[in-house]
Amino acid sequence: MSSQSSQSQPIKLLQITDTHLFEAHDGSLLSVNTGESFKSVVNAVLDSGYDYEAILATGDISQDHSAASYQRFADGIVPLEKTCYWLPGNHDYKPNMGSVFEEQAQLDNQIQQVEHVLLGNNWQIVLLDSQVVGVPHGRLSDQQLALLDDKLAQYPERHTLVLLHHHPILVGSAWLDQHTLKDSDALWDVIAKHSNVKAILCGHVHQDMVKDHNGVLVMATLQPVFSSNPIPTISHWITSLRVGEKSI
Ligand SMILES: [Fe+2]
Repeated sequence: MSSQSSQSQPIKLLQITDTHLFEAHDGSLLSVNTGESFKSVVNAVLDSGYDYEAILATGDISQDHSAASYQRFADGIVPLEKTCYWLPGNHDYKPNMGSVFEEQAQLDNQIQQVEHVLLGNNWQIVLLDSQVVGVPHGRLSDQQLALLDDKLAQYPERHTLVLLHHHPILVGSAWLDQHTLKDSDALWDVIAKHSNVKAILCGHVHQDMVKDHNGVLVMATLQPVFSSNPIPTISHWITSLRVGEKSI
């Protein structure tokens, strides 16, 4: 494959977010067994035959903070076989998330707990931790903002996908918009210094969203737990990005 053709190849990514898993097999949230919902999503991905480069898990992986819930997630994605990049949401307990990651790393490298990924020839992903311990809203520390600023400056020629749990714009829901990314102007100020952020993908909002904000696509994905149908349609939880284009 020539470099020209490889540059025109789409890079497809799969987002599985807000699984809210429990240690208990029958753990449920809003009367939905989250473990079963998660399994259904994985099976539907397998059945779809959809091909993708990597899995993006944008937080709230656990509901009960237990190590077993993170292990449930790690075990659950094994059939998908692709690398999974995960980051914490407000419900996550980073010590247990980290310990399961460390244990899994001894077995395979399917789960990656990183801040930055170079993807293909033209894209990068920056993974930000927006968790504020003990509260549902998010905020980016100066260190997280500096991380983004540094990567945008370091790879100015690469289109950038920013991942974080909390939504950095209002979504029009009184409930959800109490728990947004606070001080989001600080994020948008960093993005405005550069021209290479093309999209932001978040979890947390439990609904489909694609909005243009300052020329950046802000996307979120329906979380099956909060749907009347655990598997609505494949388009609800699969996101694809195209490489080599100015827009997605
Ligand atoms: Fe959340």
